[in-house]
Amino acid sequence: MTNFEIQHKDLMGRIGKLCTAHGYIETPAILPVINPNIISIEAAELKHYGAEMLITNAYIIYRKQDLREEALKTGIHSLLGTDMPIMTDSGSYQLYEYKDVEVSNAKILEFQQRIGSDVCVPLDIPTAPYSNRERAKGDLDVTLNRLREARNLMPANEQANMLAGVVQGSTFTDLRADSARQAAELGFDLYAIGGVVPLLESHDFARLVDIIIASKRNLPLNAPVHLFGAGHPMLFALAVALGCDLFDSAAYALFAKDKRYLTNEGTKKIGNLRALPCSCPVCSAHSVAELKESKDLLASHNLWVTFEEMRTVKQSIAEGSLWELCERRCRAYPSLLDALERITNYSTLIEKYDTATKRPFFYLSHYSAHRPEVVRYSNRLNRFYVSHSVLITTKEEPGEEKFDHIFLVKPPFGPYPVELKETYPVGQSEIPVTIDDEARTVALQNVVKLLMMNKGKAKFVFRYDNSWEGHPLLEEISKHVELMENIDLHNLHR
Ligand code: GUN
Ligand code: ZN
Repeated sequence: MTNFEIQHKDLMGRIGKLCTAHGYIETPAILPVINPNIISIEAAELKHYGAEMLITNAYIIYRKQDLREEALKTGIHSLLGTDMPIMTDSGSYQLYEYKDVEVSNAKILEFQQRIGSDVCVPLDIPTAPYSNRERAKGDLDVTLNRLREARNLMPANEQANMLAGVVQGSTFTDLRADSARQAAELGFDLYAIGGVVPLLESHDFARLVDIIIASKRNLPLNAPVHLFGAGHPMLFALAVALGCDLFDSAAYALFAKDKRYLTNEGTKKIGNLRALPCSCPVCSAHSVAELKESKDLLASHNLWVTFEEMRTVKQSIAEGSLWELCERRCRAYPSLLDALERITNYSTLIEKYDTATKRPFFYLSHYSAHRPEVVRYSNRLNRFYVSHSVLITTKEEPGEEKFDHIFLVKPPFGPYPVELKETYPVGQSEIPVTIDDEARTVALQNVVKLLMMNKGKAKFVFRYDNSWEGHPLLEEISKHVELMENIDLHNLHR
C-alpha cells in the first residue's frame, strides 16, 4: 500500500518521503492548484519555486469536452505539461460551492484512473461547519459509501494510482473521529481532511485544531494526511505540528486576484505597503507600484513565500523546534493564538507522538508552560527516588550538604535533582530571567505532585526565594506541610 517513509519527527509533524508513480516527493509538501482552464504559471516554472507535486481538478477537465478528450488521449501529465506527480480532486468542492456536479463517484474515479492521476480522490460530500447533526451524519454516510465503492473499484495493490480516503463530519469531533476510523478500516494510500475551507475563511482556527486532532488520532500513522484548502503559509507550522503532510494552494492566486500580499504571519493589502518587506526574486526586482499593477507578479511573490515557509517548517522539524515556530507564528494573529491555546489542551496527546529527546527548548510565552515536553516531565516525576531528608529549593545556596537529596525548582518544569542540572530537558532549556506566572504555577504544581507522590517516604523542606512570594500555590504547599508531618515549609528570606 502506501509507500511513505518517515525520516524526522517533531510534535505530531514529520518529514517523510512519499513514493508516487511519478517519483518520490518530500513531505510536508505544498501542491499548487492548477486550473486546467487558465494555466497562469506553467508546471515547469512551478518546479522552480520548489513544487514537487501538483493538484488539479478532474471534474473541471471532465466537464469540458476538449480538455476531457485531450486528457483521455494524452494523459493528465501531458495535459499539464509536467512529469511531476499530480493529485486530482473529484469535484466535491464544486459540488459544495455550486451544487451542480453531474457525475457519479464511479465515473469520476474511473476518469481519474484513465487520465493517469497519481492520487485519485472519491466524490466525498463536504458538509458546512456548524451544520445540524442529522445533516452532517447523513452526508458522512454517503461519503463513507463512496469511499467503500472507491476502494472496491480500485483495490489496493492493483494499480499505480493511489487513492485518498476523505474525512468529513462538519464540526462534530465525534463524527470526524468516526469518519477517520472507518476510512482507516477501509485502508487508503493517503487520507485527506475535507470540509474546512469555510473555517479557514472565517479564521476559526481553534475549531480547525479540534477537527485535525479528532481525525488524526484515528488515522494510521504510516500514511500521509492532506489538509484540503489550507494554502496560507501562516497556517503551515500549526497544521504540520498536528500531523498534516500535504497541502494544496490556490491561495497564492486567489489572494493575488484580490491584490493581497501573503506573508508567513498574515496577509497585507498591496496598496498599504510602503516598501516590499520580502527578498524573493519578485520583491527584489520590483516596486510596490509594479506589484500593485500585476496580478502575476503578486501571485509569484505569494508562491515564493508559500514555499519558503514550508522549507522553514521542515527545518524546524529536523532541528526539533517546531513548537517554537508554531508559537511564533500563532502569536502574530489573535485567532491563531486561540488555536495555539487549543493545541495546549492536547499536549498530553501530542506528547505521545513527540520524540522523547530533542534540542533544549526556548521558553517564548506562557504557552510554552504547556508544551508536550513539560507534560512529559510531569508524567515522569514518579521516576525520582527520594528518602530521608529532601530539600526542594528555588535557589541553590551553600551549606546544603545536610540533605540526602536536593531538588532545584525551574519553571515551568518544577523540581529536578541537582544532579540533572546539565541534562535535557530541564537543565538545558532556556527561560527568560523574568518568568511569567504560568510557568511558576506549572512548576509549583509539579512540586505539589512530587510531595504527594512521596508522602511519608522522606522529610521534605521546601524553600523559596522572595520572587515567589504571594503565589497562591505556596499556600497549597503549606497545606500539605500541615497535612504531612514530615514536610516543612521554609521561606528563604523569612
Ligand atoms: N477541496 C476543498 N475542500 C474539499 C473537500 O472537502 N473535499 C474535496 N474532495 N476537495 C476539497
Ligand atoms: Zn516577495
